[in-house]
Amino acid sequence: MPNYHRTRFGRIVLGDSLDYMASLRPESVDLVVTSPPFGLVRKKDYGNVESHEYVDWFKQFGHAFRRILKPGGSLVVDIGGAWIPGQPTRSLYHFELAIMLCREIGFYLAQEFFWWNPSKLPSPAEWVTVRRIRVKDAVNVVWWFSVTPWPKASNTRVLTPYSEAMRGLLKNGYRAKLRPSGHDISSKFAWDNGASIPPNIIAVPNTESNSYYLRYCERHGLKPHPARFPAAVPEFFVRMLTDAGDSVLDPFAGSCVTGEVCERLRRKWACVEIRDDYVQAAMGRFEREGQPEQAALFSASSNGSSYRLHHPAALWNGPEKPLPADGGRKRRVGAGRPI
Ligand SMILES: C[S@@+](CC[C@H](N)C(=O)[O-])C[C@H]1O[C@@H](n2cnc3c(N)ncnc32)[C@H](O)[C@@H]1O
Repeated sequence: MPNYHRTRFGRIVLGDSLDYMASLRPESVDLVVTSPPFGLVRKKDYGNVESHEYVDWFKQFGHAFRRILKPGGSLVVDIGGAWIPGQPTRSLYHFELAIMLCREIGFYLAQEFFWWNPSKLPSPAEWVTVRRIRVKDAVNVVWWFSVTPWPKASNTRVLTPYSEAMRGLLKNGYRAKLRPSGHDISSKFAWDNGASIPPNIIAVPNTESNSYYLRYCERHGLKPHPARFPAAVPEFFVRMLTDAGDSVLDPFAGSCVTGEVCERLRRKWACVEIRDDYVQAAMGRFEREGQPEQAALFSASSNGSSYRLHHPAALWNGPEKPLPADGGRKRRVGAGRPI
């Protein structure tokens, strides 16, 4: 398929990624990292027909990914959950997707990650802010699949600064002892390795409002892509799972965030997007080619960007009103007003 645009390390391809992948040699890609269109769950009386439709649709991509990935390769899929319309329960489609990819196509689930978007608004409003019977859904699952149980990977690429508590322990010393849980914490725990191993939670808000991409769209009268992920999401996996010069594919490229990350990290990349308007807008990410490389998005010294979660239900000593015995089915008068 013809390139829409070429950069030093990569290419944007306008078209269907199934066609593009069919043109690639088997075992030629190190990492597929992507955020596919999410399953839209429409109202049906019973069951989850739509999630099966979604999984069936995705299967063809799954087979193509398996064919083009190298034995040490990985497939990373950022996917949001969905609510069943009209009732406060969740679709199972993203779990079914993971099961299909492993059971039917032969991928391994190397690890599941959660992208926590601290700026996520409370929704669906009806369940969360009006009837108050569910909490804010603020994470996407990011499935990390691998071709074999031993994909190329190193967490040393994605270290984070020590927490204050850990810095205190390192400073004041730690006495090795058996924990109440039975864990034997050895004195090695107190070795200062300079940085800490991150958890499987990627905490990054999706609040881009003044990026070059957005200004480019405005200047050219283009609509920015409505479902972009922050660059830190693909960047985490590109760093952890590939070396410079390796090849990375985003088959549902949208605004080509993955391409921009790979260009900066010197990975060979291809971003395939089916919609012409999104590809036109994505060009804004590569307009400044030849200029000095942009700084890395995160570095060990950037300590202004950490997020803290309160202790669960830190305010729970308030007066307890009886729970709605009907599970919130009947909308109460005054629901949604401040309590
Ligand atoms: C959730 S968006 C990806 C957004 C992207 N991660 C970003 O940050 O800009 C999914 C994209 O996949 C594209 N898409 C859907 N089917 C496709 C296909 N068969 N081939 C290529 N792109 C496809 C859609 O047009 C949409 O832009």
